Amino acid sequence: MVQVLKSWFRWFIYFLFGSCLFEECNGIVRSTAKCGSVFITVSSLKGSYIELNWETDCRTNEIQPDTIALYNKDIRNKTQEDFILYAEIKAANHPNGFYRTRTSFNLTQWPTSWRYNSTSLKEYGPQNLSYWIVAYSDTDQIIDIQPLKLQPTWMSDNREKLQSYHLGSIVIPGTHDSGCYGGLRIIEDYVLTQDMPIWYQLVAGIRYLDLRVAYHQDEMFWVNHDFIKVRKIQIIYDQIKEFIRRSPGEIIIVDFHRFPFPSVWSRFLHEKFINYTLSQLGAYAFPKNGPRHSKGPVLEKIWSARKNIIFTYADKHYTAKYPELWDPIPQAWADTLNVDTLKKYLESSLHNKSEHAVFSALMAELTPRFIDIFTGTNTLRELANNVNSNVTKWVRDEWNRRVNIITSDYFLGNNLINVAIDINRNR
Ligand SMILES: *[C@@H]1O[C@H](CO)[C@@H](O)[C@H](O)[C@H]1NC(C)=O
Ligand SMILES: *[C@@H]1O[C@H](CO)[C@@H](O)[C@H](O)[C@H]1NC(C)=O
Ligand SMILES: *[C@@H]1O[C@H](CO)[C@@H](O)[C@H](O)[C@H]1NC(C)=O
Ligand SMILES: *[C@@H]1O[C@H](CO)[C@@H](O)[C@H](O)[C@H]1NC(C)=O
Ligand SMILES: *[C@@H]1O[C@H](CO)[C@@H](O)[C@H](O)[C@H]1NC(C)=O
Ligand SMILES: *[C@@H]1O[C@H](CO)[C@@H](O)[C@H](O)[C@H]1NC(C)=O
Ligand SMILES: *[C@@H]1O[C@H](CO)[C@@H](O)[C@H](O)[C@H]1NC(C)=O
Repeated sequence: MVQVLKSWFRWFIYFLFGSCLFEECNGIVRSTAKCGSVFITVSSLKGSYIELNWETDCRTNEIQPDTIALYNKDIRNKTQEDFILYAEIKAANHPNGFYRTRTSFNLTQWPTSWRYNSTSLKEYGPQNLSYWIVAYSDTDQIIDIQPLKLQPTWMSDNREKLQSYHLGSIVIPGTHDSGCYGGLRIIEDYVLTQDMPIWYQLVAGIRYLDLRVAYHQDEMFWVNHDFIKVRKIQIIYDQIKEFIRRSPGEIIIVDFHRFPFPSVWSRFLHEKFINYTLSQLGAYAFPKNGPRHSKGPVLEKIWSARKNIIFTYADKHYTAKYPELWDPIPQAWADTLNVDTLKKYLESSLHNKSEHAVFSALMAELTPRFIDIFTGTNTLRELANNVNSNVTKWVRDEWNRRVNIITSDYFLGNNLINVAIDINRNR
């Protein structure tokens, strides 16, 4: 009851002041975060808890965030009385601007029109999930309010703005070892890098997939984590095809980055794999014919050719032979357990960026040591948790437009998709 009264009071305050304190309190993430601006992430740790993030970098004359709350709905909408308050905390008790709730992210909240097996009509634009974060001032004014949102059509939503940009010079959110989600019973803590199938990654807004391909006799092609087979690659191809069918204005970079099993691939095997891949997805491939630009094609060119995929292949022998395969992508991989070392390494790689490569990828992940597998320490979930909130800030506040592709493990643990869209829109 007290909670309901309090909420009504807050609504009344909102009504009095007419709008949020920010001119644009409407779902657009700002590139330079303002005092009290908020966003939601999902923890990479077991339990997939919703995390509250807010900006604490405030000047004395700014209105400071006092209370941070998580609801299931947009509380500005008076007609919605049945909202749930999941969590409410005092900002002052969490000086880092971060709090992990005990509310689990639940896939049942995924919008109906963007479920894999759904036949309902697609909807364009950002899709709000039923998790809303609010920052209140000490007088209960709303400083900022944001839903957790999906970006299934972000490239085509921003077509006017993005059309003249080269694919190698915009910020592209990606996943590391994208096929390694679920489905394993052994040592999964050290193998799985993601917890959502490719379909969900693409609907959320991921546009770079890092695939490591293996061939197991008579069983066709698989995605592997090193030498461990995870799933048939056909499953991934089906999900990519379905995504392109439902969201035909999006452009995806599919990077065949390594061929870990067998340890040496014969020419026959490469050709068998390329034949198979092109028979499945070749119709969507944007070939590297015609005049070349050092930062790749502009988006409009790919759109007007009605193509959706740039395939990159980690072996120049085949990129020379097949117009559908673009040159290998250099991945900056720090191979470290330490957040500071990772940051320094990625910074130096931004500085060294090869003039020759069309695309370049920052791998914003920490790597466990071999011994960790035996001691049960530094699981991939824990390591993703250690770096994910930092990486949002590095890209948003420091690296900005210098970034091309940037990949994460457990990608909902950072806000890179929205940060990337925001940087690209505001160039
Ligand atoms: C999602 O929320 C934003 C406010 O952040 C609102 O402007 C927009 O209309 C909502 N989208 C849908 C599809 O309801
Ligand atoms: C307010 O909530 C009602 C009922 O759920 C919904 O139909 C309406 O679109 C919402 N309005 C806004 C502005 O979000
Ligand atoms: C997700 O939501 C469904 C339906 O509301 C519920 O049955 C299920 O227990 C929830 N799962 C988790 C992990 O909270
Ligand atoms: C789609 O439906 C099929 C058959 O019911 C099911 O096996 C599959 O897991 C579903 N896929 C997703 C991504 O939900
Ligand atoms: C790949 O396809 C080409 C053209 O269809 C064919 O000549 C070649 O034998 C195929 N290679 C393999 C290894 O399947
Ligand atoms: C990472 O984030 C933590 C917590 O906000 C902060 O203390 C630390 O300085 C950050 N590290 C780097 C390298 O940015
Ligand atoms: C960048 O160049 C410097 C100087 O040549 C080198 O020490 C450093 O390792 C390079 N960094 C990366 C990420 O390649």
